[in-house]
Amino acid sequence: MLKPYAGFISGVITQKTYWTEQLFSIRVAGKFNSYIAGQFVKLALHDEQGELIRRAYSIVNHPKEFASSGELEFLIIANPTGQLSPRLRQLQMGDEILVSDSAAGFMTLDEIPPDSNELWLLSTGTAIGPYLAMLEQPGIEHRFNTIVLVNATRTQAEQSYPEKIQELKTKFGERFTYVPIISRESVRGALSGRIPMLLENGVLFQAATSPPNPTSCFFYLCGNPAMVKESSESLKKLGFRKHLRRQPGQFSSENYW
Ligand SMILES: Cc1cc2nc3c(=O)[nH]c(=O)nc-3n(C[C@H](O)[C@H](O)[C@H](O)COP(=O)(O)OP(=O)(O)OC[C@H]3O[C@@H](n4cnc5c(N)ncnc54)[C@H](O)[C@@H]3O)c2cc1C
Ligand SMILES: NC(=O)c1ccc[n+]([C@@H]2O[C@H](COP(=O)([O-])OP(=O)(O)OC[C@H]3O[C@@H](n4cnc5c(N)ncnc54)[C@H](OP(=O)(O)O)[C@@H]3O)[C@@H](O)[C@H]2O)c1
Repeated sequence: MLKPYAGFISGVITQKTYWTEQLFSIRVAGKFNSYIAGQFVKLALHDEQGELIRRAYSIVNHPKEFASSGELEFLIIANPTGQLSPRLRQLQMGDEILVSDSAAGFMTLDEIPPDSNELWLLSTGTAIGPYLAMLEQPGIEHRFNTIVLVNATRTQAEQSYPEKIQELKTKFGERFTYVPIISRESVRGALSGRIPMLLENGVLFQAATSPPNPTSCFFYLCGNPAMVKESSESLKKLGFRKHLRRQPGQFSSENYW
């Protein structure tokens, strides 16, 4: 039994899926509180000295699915030199884990200006997770005319959730484009390179079939902080502005470290 800890609720691993040796998804059952699609919670385990190691992880499933299953889903990459993620990778079905009692984060659909009807969701690695939750939002197909989901990974094997992406293609039809970017292998049907360059040279927009409409587009950037920083610069060069509550703009972001 894990020691109870203020601000955390105990959960149990109910499912584990490996996408690669280091990249995996887990589902955790427990009496957790609800959240908004796009938010994250903290997962925590004790180390050998009994200290709690806690880190933020975005929730992949939509709150309505959580309401019926009682489970939270996470997409995690184990950094072999990291403190918590290799421990999460070791967890087996039935093992216990602590989950923070409240979710946090502002990368949600209700933060997007109401007149934006073109949604560009740009991610590296595991940062596709919160977007998958957001894309399950009831009524989202009436909110946006265009949805572009981009996931940049080093390898094809790290392109996670292919079945979910197929479901989204079926659900949204022509309104939805998925753009995989694979940087360290040459793969047919995927772009190569990095998001900032692909924004600046227009290749990402070509792959998404049409360029963003400056008056109605909104970009979220999520994942590797260097990608977020460089892509923000690229978007500024293209004439877009960072979104602030007091001054609406066309892009906003969340860093994973
Ligand atoms: C808001 C938020 C949401 C997050 N959501 C997720 C998530 O859904 N899935 C997930 O795997 N991680 C996510 N992270 C990162 C996570 O919190 C941890 O930092 C990560 O698992 C490494 O923890 P660690 O203790 O193993 O490594 P540490 O000992 O803390 O070492 C951290 C180093 O690992 C690398 N790193 C950290 N996270 C990632 C990542 N996701 N992809 C690539 N490299 C990384 C960086 O080089 C960083 O300097 C999120 C972080 C934030 C702030
Ligand atoms: N993925 C693996 O095979 C692997 C293996 C062992 C350990 N790890 C560790 O696991 C962690 C996660 O790896 P990850 O592959 O999910 O994350 P990552 O290193 O952030 O790579 C994901 C994608 O982001 C791209 N990227 C990196 N820096 C960028 C920048 N400045 N601008 C735009 N795009 C950028 C990468 O392109 P580039 O390929 O061009 O960098 C890659 O396509 C890392 O800490 C890593 O040390 C990963």
